[in-house]
Amino acid sequence: MRLAPSLLAADFGRLLEQAQAVSDLSDYLHWDVMDGHFVPNLTFGPVVVNALRDKISIPFDIHLMIADPQRYAPHFKVRSDDLVSFHVEAVSDPIPVIETIQKAGAKAGIALRPKTPLSAVERFLDQIDFLLIMSVEPGFAGQSFIAETLEKIRQAKELISKKNLSVAIEVDGGVNAQNIREIARAGADIIVAASAIFGQSDPRAALEQLRSLIIS
Ligand code: DX5
Ligand code: ZN
Repeated sequence: MRLAPSLLAADFGRLLEQAQAVSDLSDYLHWDVMDGHFVPNLTFGPVVVNALRDKISIPFDIHLMIADPQRYAPHFKVRSDDLVSFHVEAVSDPIPVIETIQKAGAKAGIALRPKTPLSAVERFLDQIDFLLIMSVEPGFAGQSFIAETLEKIRQAKELISKKNLSVAIEVDGGVNAQNIREIARAGADIIVAASAIFGQSDPRAALEQLRSLIIS
């Protein structure tokens, strides 16, 4: 089980400091890239993410919530263990975007909005490295976990093992100390959390607590 704190709930005036404060306890640093088109919010793009790339040693997990991932994905400076995902709802054909991300040297993932069925990505599973299942509507931190996601995670797990693939399942949105164990049990391999970490007075202690809940 891997944990990916999302900077969306961090203090953007102290991004580097906040990222460094949790990086030794984290498996990935999750970046929510939003363009104001695919989602009704704007955050940061390659300029900001790249500026921190060499200052943080752990892998980056770049979640593109943008209308044109094919255009912007190559602008991110990536390493071989970094994750880059884009939304299946944003593109007419995911294949060229998957190839662009993999050619740039990162691992490619497809993200699904809560209402998008697994059938929308089933035929691409053998080409991706991970599947990002959103458990809130993309756009904002601090929303409640959509309970139906648990079943979707179980079904994704089943589908992936039936096909004999090694696609990791990432779950993003509304994760907290009350539900993280159930999410892990449903089959999540990577869990993202913003508010439950950076929204707390002591992000390191919050992250340690989440970790203890999934290993105990
Ligand atoms: C939502 C983002 C999530 C968000 C999660 O659009 O993709 O990564 O940061 O925030 P919390 O953990 O607060 O629901
Ligand atoms: Zn995200």
